[in-house]
Order: sequence, then structure tokens, then C-alpha cells
Amino acid sequence: MTVGHLQIVVCAAGPAPDVTTLINTAHQQSWTTVVTATPNATSFIDIPAIEKLTGTPVRSDYRASPGVRRSLPTTDALVIAPATYNSINKIALGLADNYAMTTIAELIGRHVPTVIVPFVNTALATRLPFRHAVTSLRDEGVRILFGPEEGWEPHPPGSGNDRRLSFPWATAFTTAASRDYKAPMRE
Ligand SMILES: Cc1cc2nc3c(=O)[nH]c(=O)nc-3n(C[C@H](O)[C@H](O)[C@H](O)COP(=O)(O)O)c2cc1C
Repeated sequence: MTVGHLQIVVCAAGPAPDVTTLINTAHQQSWTTVVTATPNATSFIDIPAIEKLTGTPVRSDYRASPGVRRSLPTTDALVIAPATYNSINKIALGLADNYAMTTIAELIGRHVPTVIVPFVNTALATRLPFRHAVTSLRDEGVRILFGPEEGWEPHPPGSGNDRRLSFPWATAFTTAASRDYKAPMRE
């Protein structure tokens, strides 16, 4: 029995190839999954392998394949991981310049429980635009796994490869799937 449907958005950062861990975690809990990639992320991931796992095409642009719905299916939760500095700033501003950003903008607007897991270094994380983006998205009800209280922090520049192995895929899923976590309705 399917428990929920998870929309995953992958951005172009080091842990992107490991998104299969999130897919498998969700499937073990009887969730179905679909993966959307930013255009830049398509070269980071093994698209045929992901499509085999999810049973659904990986979307990265607006072109619809025969038999593929253009509208968004019912979605119980959204996980954006790994989320880049670039995409986090765009999401906070409400930019919709590619299929992934448009999907995210609409799902947050529908109050779908949304979890973002940034993968940024300390130099990027200290920038004011990024800090404003995190605050703004949290104000909008988006859960961002970032900071000491969340157990996931930026890494020193140049150490991304080491940090990739500890990317919190399982926490991202359990947070998004938590029945306790509901994105608040904001005016
Ligand atoms: C090999 C490689 C690794 C990268 N890793 C990161 C990363 O860990 N975090 C990040 O914010 N950007 C990273 N970038 C830069 C992003 O890919 C770049 O900002 C890109 O524009 C992000 O596109 P997207 O946000 O549309 O996915 C990396 C780029 C390359 C080529």
C-alpha cells in the first residue's frame, strides 16, 4: 500500500548522485517517488538508473513525453536535496526560470510539506543573500535542515567530497514524511 508520494528535486551539488539513497529510503517506507532535476543537475545524476528505481521519467524541462502528465500529480511531501546556494537563493525570491524552480514555487504555494537540505560551504553560507533566503523560506513554513540545531552545517571550502558521505538523506525523508510536520498556512 502506498503511504505517500514524494517529489524530489535535485540540484547540481556534490551529493546529487546519491539521491538514490533517498529514493530507496522512501520506497522502504512504502512511499512512491519522482525526481525532478535542475538543468545543471542532469549531468550529476544517473538518469536511467533513477528512472528504473522510480518507474517515472526524470523531469528537467517543460517538454512532456507521450503519456506523461504536464500537471503536477498529488504530492504529499517535497524534498529539495542537495540544494545549491544558487537554487536556494532563487527559491526564496520566487524565481521560476526552469521546470524544477517552477515545480518548487507551486508546491510551496500549495503548502505541501517541504524540506530543503543545503549543500554549501562556509564561504557561501556566510553571504547575506543566502542567510536572508534561509530566513525568508523558514518564515514561509519551509523546513531547512541547516544549522547546529538541525545537525547539518556548512563545510569548509574544498571539503565537500568528505562531507558528501554524511549527507542526511534519511533525516530529510523522515522530516518530510513526519505526520507532525505540516507546512503552516501563511497569509
Ligand atoms: C563539480 C561541481 C560541484 C559543485 N558543488 C556545489 C555544491 O556543493 N554546492 C553548491 O551550492 N554549488 C556547487 N556547484 C556549483 C553549482 O553547480 C552551480 O552554482 C550551478 O549553477 C547550480 O545550479 P542549480 O542550482 O540550477 O542546480 C558545483 C559545481 C560543480 C561543477
